[in-house]
Amino acid sequence: MNPPLRLAVVAAVDLAGPERSQIVRLCTDAFEVDYSPFLKSFGKCTHLLGFLGSELITHALWLRRPLSIAGTWVFNAAYIEAMATKSGYQGRGYGSAVMRRVHEEIRSYEIAALSTSVPEWYERLGWERWRGPRLILRGAEVIPTPDDVVMVYAPWGVLPDVNQTLAAEWRPLELW
Ligand SMILES: CC(C)(COP(=O)(O)OP(=O)(O)OC[C@H]1O[C@@H](n2cnc3c(N)ncnc32)[C@H](O)[C@@H]1OP(=O)(O)O)[C@@H](O)C(=O)NCCC(=O)NCCS
Repeated sequence: MNPPLRLAVVAAVDLAGPERSQIVRLCTDAFEVDYSPFLKSFGKCTHLLGFLGSELITHALWLRRPLSIAGTWVFNAAYIEAMATKSGYQGRGYGSAVMRRVHEEIRSYEIAALSTSVPEWYERLGWERWRGPRLILRGAEVIPTPDDVVMVYAPWGVLPDVNQTLAAEWRPLELW
């Protein structure tokens, strides 16, 4: 039987230095890129940490990111980042446990979104792929991002039509 997973919800400002280092290490290994600049770029966000003993083995975070759906801004949108489980611990249900807890924690948001290279993993958990055009807005510039897989989740069970246009403001590093 798998040992019990201890989940903790921590605002970015309240993260202890060693916790932050563990997150950077976990995500750097999982995404094969130095994750430190990404973590800094997210600013105000909330972390969901999954520990076995004192070891961080799984993690996700969310931040507020306004989304434009068919031209109407939804300001109360949660954007999920940095979902990762340590290699050697994957496939044991830990990542799913984190995402299910994230679903509970983001119930005050109208909609949630994320971008991923493993959409099938999120579909199992109730996420849907955005089928319509995905755009990034940078001032007057509109940047189509047809190659980015963006997924959405409705904390209250009511998703908008995913064939419409979805847009977000430009940001550095990863657009989605
Ligand atoms: C994707 C990731 C977060 C999943 O975490 P995890 O802790 O291994 O996930 P779980 O153990 O909860 O998932 C297990 C289930 O997902 C399924 N699964 C695993 N990878 C899958 C994939 N790529 N596509 C579809 N299903 C997948 C397993 O078959 C298993 O299903 P079951 O419960 O029906 O047997 C982890 O593999 C990871 O960190 N990958 C590298 C970083 C990454 O790609 N993160 C997500 C990008 S946003």
